[in-house]
Formats: sequence, C-alpha cells, structure tokens
Amino acid sequence: MTMMKTARIHEFGDTSVIRHDSVPRPQPAFGEVVVHVAATSFNPSEAALRAGMLQAYLPVDLPYALGWDVAGTVAEIGAGAEGFAVGDRVIGRLDSGGAAAEYVRAPAALLVAAPTSIALANAAALPVAGLTAWQAVFEHGKVAAGHRVLVNGAGGGVGGFVTQLAKQAGAEVIATASPRSTEAVLRQGADQVIDYTSGPVGAALDGPVDTLLNLVPLSPPDAAALAALVRPGGRIISIATRVEPAADAEVSAIHMVARNDVAHLAALVELVDAAALGIDISESRPLADLADVHHLGESGRTRGKVIITP
Ligand SMILES: NC(=O)c1ccc[n+]([C@@H]2O[C@H](COP(=O)([O-])OP(=O)(O)OC[C@H]3O[C@@H](n4cnc5c(N)ncnc54)[C@H](OP(=O)(O)O)[C@@H]3O)[C@@H](O)[C@H]2O)c1
Repeated sequence: MTMMKTARIHEFGDTSVIRHDSVPRPQPAFGEVVVHVAATSFNPSEAALRAGMLQAYLPVDLPYALGWDVAGTVAEIGAGAEGFAVGDRVIGRLDSGGAAAEYVRAPAALLVAAPTSIALANAAALPVAGLTAWQAVFEHGKVAAGHRVLVNGAGGGVGGFVTQLAKQAGAEVIATASPRSTEAVLRQGADQVIDYTSGPVGAALDGPVDTLLNLVPLSPPDAAALAALVRPGGRIISIATRVEPAADAEVSAIHMVARNDVAHLAALVELVDAAALGIDISESRPLADLADVHHLGESGRTRGKVIITP
C-alpha cells in the first residue's frame, strides 16, 4: 500500500491538534479523480473548523483532513469521472476537505481546468476566496457601473478579489486596509484606501456608499454601525459577522455563505488567464508549517492569500 502525508485533526482545539499523519494514498470512488496536490491555501474558516466553532452548522467527523482549496494534477481517474485526463492541471473547492495532503480524492464535477498563465500552486488561492468574492459582488451585491462601493477588509484573501471584481464591474471602490496592505489594494484598483487603524472609517468617508461589502469579523455594535455608512435604500452584504442595522436605518443587510459553483470558478480562471484578475499571494509555506499558519491567521498576522504546499 502506498502511503502519503496528510494534515488532520483528531479532536477540536488550538493549533496543536493539527497532526501530520501517514495514511494510505486515496483511491477514487465513482465519479471521482485523485489529484496530486500542488497546493492548498489557508482560509480562516478552516481555523474556526479546527477549533470546533463550526460544528453547529458545518459538522464534520473526526479525524478530519484539512484543506478546502486544491490545485494539482489529475493522477488517477475513477469509474464515471468525466472531463479530465491523467496529468490535467485542475483546481477546485473540496467541501469535505483533504487537500492538505500529497493526494486527495475529488468529485470530478467540482473541478475545473487550472489557469495556465500562473504557477499551478498559486491557483490554490482561487476557489474559496474567489467564489466568495464573485458571489458577494455579482449575486448579492449586484455591483454595477456607477455604484459607490465600500469594501471593508480589502487586505484579506477575499478582499483582494472583491476589490478587483467590483472595479471591473465599473464601480467606484473605496477600500479599508491597514498600511501593510495599502499598496496591494491600490494595485487591485481601489480608488481610495481608508486606513481602518487610524480612526473611524466613517470619518474618512466622503459621503455614504450604495453598497458595503463587509469581509471582517466585528463586534455586533461595530457591525450595526456600518449601516451609517450606507445611503438609505442601499445594501450591506456581509460574509463575516451578521450585520443588523437599527430598524430605522432604511438599509438592507444580508449575510451570505458562498456555495460551490464550477461555472463561477471557471469564470474566475478565465479572468486570471486574461490577466484581468491578479492573485495577491503574501507567502507560500510548506504543509509542515500549517499549524503555524493557523496561529498567524488567528492572531491577525496573515494578509492576502497564503499558499500551502505539500
Ligand atoms: N460567508 C462565507 O461564505 C465566507 C467565505 C470565505 C470567508 N469567510 C469569512 O470572511 C472573512 C474574510 O475571509 P478572508 O479569507 O479574506 O480572511 P483573511 O484573509 O484572513 O483576512 C485578513 C485581512 O482582514 C483585514 N482586517 C482585519 N481586521 C480588519 C478591520 N477591522 N477592518 C478592515 N480590515 C480588517 C486585514 O487587512 P490588513 O492587511 O489591511 O490589515 C487582513 O489582511 C473571514 O472571517 C472568513 O472566515 C466567509
């Protein structure tokens, strides 16, 4: 039996619960392929899963192999798996995890061809963050030309894509970022960057916005206060803390959870290959460092996307 390394948790807890186990290399089930993993990427929600905070609405069985994002090459094709040949470069969002490993099983229907214009490992930044950004901007935010949009949390993995997609939709984009992310966010097309560390965002905002995309976990009062930055009739889309504006705020607020959608993922790949969507990779770390990356993420020390290579 061929063995491989995978990063798993056997219990919920702090970063010390991440173990590097040797397990049999997976076999594809019906409709699946096995992907030789080039990389996964860090998503903060996986740290929440590791800590046991998602069990109420995203229950998982233990041991659980981490890694929702995958970029790699098809190594083996199971019965009923269509659309790919051995050696194809693919990416996908694996909702049952497992990509923090050398090989992972993946339903072929959840994979798309990887971008050809960038290193395969870097494409692991796209699935979770890109799908979330796409759906926040286009489906829920309905961002269009002429809209004035505030991206709260533009320096993060999702924020980089949100800023670029909102700009491409023709919006005026105002972004919040700290000094470490200002340059990247301007490069992504933001028209104005407000340093959220230097005072209340509202004080630096020159009039209300049509749409506020909140990508940051906030205290409930801080979240409710976002409504004051939006014009009457405007909307707030939050992917993090649920925003509950005061009853008289005349602002609609929704909380969204991104879904897996290969059409959206393929559209993102197309933009990358057209050089119309950049990927802001802050660092690339080996799988052995995964616990450290979780620790850095939980203490607010990651920005952009962090790539994890086996
Ligand atoms: N609902 C969904 O479907 C969904 C999907 C994906 C992610 N999420 C959640 O959405 C959030 C963002 O995800 P992510 O992957 O982008 O996270 P991330 O990459 O970890 O975001 C980190 C960034 O947050 C920024 N930030 C922190 N506090 C801020 C504040 N008070 N104001 C403005 N920016 C602030 C920092 O920007 P600077 O570098 O500028 O300091 C940092 O770069 C996470 O809570 C994640 O769990 C939800």
